[in-house]
Amino acid sequence: MCGIVGYLGNRQAFPIIIKGLKRLEYRGYDSAGVALLSHGMTVYKKAGKVSDLEKIVDLSKTGATIGIGHTRWATHGEPNDRNAHPHLSNSGNLAIIHNGIIENFHAIKEILLLRGYHFNSDTDTEVLVNLIEEVQKKENTSLDNAVRIALNEVVGAYAIVVLDLRNPDQLIAARKGSPLVIGIGDHEFFVASDASPIIEYTQKVIYLDEQEYAVINRGGEYDIRTLGNVLKSPEIKKLEFSLENIEKGGFEHFMLKEIYEQPKAIEDSLRGRMSAQNGWIKLGGLSEYITRIDNAERFIITACGTSWHSALIAEHLIEDLARVPVEVEYASEFRYRNPIIRESDVVIAISQSGETADTLAAINLAKERQAFIFGICNVIGSSIARTAQTGAYTHAGPEIGVASTKAFSTQVSIITLIALQLAAVKGTISTSKLREILYELENIPKKIEETLLLNDQIKEIAAIYKDATNFLYLGRGYNFPVALEGALKLKEISYIHAEGYPAAEMKHGPIALIDENMPVVFLATNQSAYEKIVSNVQEVKARKGKIIAVVHKGDTQIRELADHIIEVPETEEILSPLITIVPLQLLAYHIAIMRGCNVDQPRNLAKSVTVE
Ligand code: G6P
Repeated sequence: MCGIVGYLGNRQAFPIIIKGLKRLEYRGYDSAGVALLSHGMTVYKKAGKVSDLEKIVDLSKTGATIGIGHTRWATHGEPNDRNAHPHLSNSGNLAIIHNGIIENFHAIKEILLLRGYHFNSDTDTEVLVNLIEEVQKKENTSLDNAVRIALNEVVGAYAIVVLDLRNPDQLIAARKGSPLVIGIGDHEFFVASDASPIIEYTQKVIYLDEQEYAVINRGGEYDIRTLGNVLKSPEIKKLEFSLENIEKGGFEHFMLKEIYEQPKAIEDSLRGRMSAQNGWIKLGGLSEYITRIDNAERFIITACGTSWHSALIAEHLIEDLARVPVEVEYASEFRYRNPIIRESDVVIAISQSGETADTLAAINLAKERQAFIFGICNVIGSSIARTAQTGAYTHAGPEIGVASTKAFSTQVSIITLIALQLAAVKGTISTSKLREILYELENIPKKIEETLLLNDQIKEIAAIYKDATNFLYLGRGYNFPVALEGALKLKEISYIHAEGYPAAEMKHGPIALIDENMPVVFLATNQSAYEKIVSNVQEVKARKGKIIAVVHKGDTQIRELADHIIEVPETEEILSPLITIVPLQLLAYHIAIMRGCNVDQPRNLAKSVTVE
């Protein structure tokens, strides 16, 4: 979703802002713009890519040492030059960039129209900047106070940065519901939607909290207050990743790099949290609240997108191993349907970004109803991580490709540890079985390395099916969520319609779609119900569907039936998603590349969905 970059310091702001916007491209956007302040305000805006914006900028006018930049993911008004940010107030004094949605913008716009304001765009953002201007005029107050008063009048979510023509030494930033990070350099400041535009310049950051605003002054002074005007003393945090982590490192695309990073990402997510040799697991955030979590009568797991697929795997793992009932909920549905939430429930939120608006709202609702919240996030310091009472970071490192890969496998690794630690506490697993699974978990990175060696074979399969218009993905048990995730990967980045289905359920609908043009991907590594899945393969074969089967090395039965066999290393059934997802990620990647799609920034999608 929208990306924000601001700079105030001694250097030229423009190159820093443009580079920052490029680092935020992965979030998904459809237009971009900058405002620079030096002998007047200069604004450039353009639909399309940041590189399109660069082409229209007069480089002789970029001497400013203060400026703001934005990538817009359209909500109110189509993606064109006019609706791109920054937006100016009617006087031309104020420029604003905004990520989020002002829900009551209609009502505010009506009032402003009556007071003689005019609007050049269809956006809620232009309404907000004029509201700030109107408040400042009416109250005859400082800009920061006007921002504060105006924000108290709006309903919705926002991260904003405001620039004032009359004060080239100050930036004002505020947030509610959308993330904002302030980087603190040597007499210079950076403001951004996440830390990726900042890391190159400083490791010192402040994560602005909900309903806080910052007044940043040239020279190094800053003030952070709540929207209720209470002065805060924020904690300065140290960024834990490096520039290298957010660059492609020799790979053609971030997605491919991240697929290949999975063995290391899983190792990082397990490090220090288990030992197979000594038979222990210790997730700090779980151990600290073990009594509360052990006493839970039920787990509710809420998430969106790929993280929701991890939640489905979590349901299997926790019920299987720890014998506690689990419900899995789409965050967007859960929060709007008056769900039954009890004090004795533990709600687990899974989110790579930790900023997904629906997931955040879902846990806020659960918290209000006294449930205990456990967050599984990748981004350190993110809103969901901070809202949860406890949790575990996945430590996958920054994930830039919009289609989630290593975030998924590390989420599944963490969930496996949670299920095993709970099972150990509850005594629902024997010591020997626990140790066996832990040994196998330690081996997973190596087995993924082996699976990645199948890349060339998968590329050949991709070449055969790249022009298909539909794909079906089928799996049972632990492999059913993998089928959903494989189908999601394909549709996200190649725009081929794909459906994931429980293999046996195929008979109740999708079987009608099968003919000689339908590629069907089977996840058939199951040890339990293997014969059943063989029957499902037969059913597709009998209707001339094209069968691509992911099986364990040495499988003989399915080899006889399938058109293509992808043989992956054998593992414990409960850990199989960590392996079987890998060929599906590669298949989607190669098909998308062969179809000429932008795999890292697929159309219409955003990496972090900060609006409802
Ligand atoms: C977006 C992304 C998906 C992601 C989903 C949930 O749709 O494109 O890749 O799975 O949001 O995001 P989260 O950050 O909460 O895991």
